[in-house]
Amino acid sequence: MKHQRNKAKKCFDRFPGIQKLRYSSIATVMLIGSTFLTSNVSAADPGMEELKKVLQGQIELMTPELQEKVKGLSMDTKMSLMAILAMHNRYSKSVTMRQVMTEVLSDFQSILAGIMTDNPEQTADSARRLANHRIPVGGLLPYLGMENISDERLAVLDGFNTSVEGNALKLATAAEAGDMATAASLVGPISSGCVACHGVFRTQPGVSDLLR
Ligand code: HEC
Repeated sequence: MKHQRNKAKKCFDRFPGIQKLRYSSIATVMLIGSTFLTSNVSAADPGMEELKKVLQGQIELMTPELQEKVKGLSMDTKMSLMAILAMHNRYSKSVTMRQVMTEVLSDFQSILAGIMTDNPEQTADSARRLANHRIPVGGLLPYLGMENISDERLAVLDGFNTSVEGNALKLATAAEAGDMATAASLVGPISSGCVACHGVFRTQPGVSDLLR
């Protein structure tokens, strides 16, 4: 259990600037954010530097059309995208969002197996893995559809993310404390987050254009 906590801490250690950011007030977030986005990143903050490189790398992979749309997003939207990215430290060079989602589903099912077999260790490990899921190649935006790359549509992303990943981390903490009842009660809120995000950003998977 201690090992797990250290692992989670290590994840945040890679982005110390953002860890602070997550727990600070909106005003501070905006302050750090505007500093960050105008590239005046302090050299004393390697976390921010690293995150900035990650973001720039993602944008470089996008088509010119998508790049254009992303550049047009507001500071608020960009900040919430960065806050989401900052909660992860596994970036894939080739894996797609669909592949990540399949892996996320496996972790979700493993949480359930852990709860149903009264295994706090499996439960907590799986929940932390889910919360720190891989980021697909190019980030999330290329998979959300051009029509969804707007401030209005992306404003809901952060809430969905919190309900999935925030609750997964709470679930892990509860399991580690031996409180499996609380862990079980968080399964619903997590799945509501999955369903809500799919409702906005996904259509029915695997629809064939060979049916009439
Ligand atoms: C940030 C929004 C978001 C959240 C939160 C989210 N998903 Fe997804 N999910 C998507 C999108 C977008 C797709 C479609 C990706 C594509 O087809 O490129 C998808 C697709 C899927 C698929 C279908 C994969 C396929 O083969 O087409 C599964 C399964 C899935 N998600 C599971 C989950 C589970 C389980 C959770 C919660 C633990 C979850 N998702 C949370 C956005 C989200």
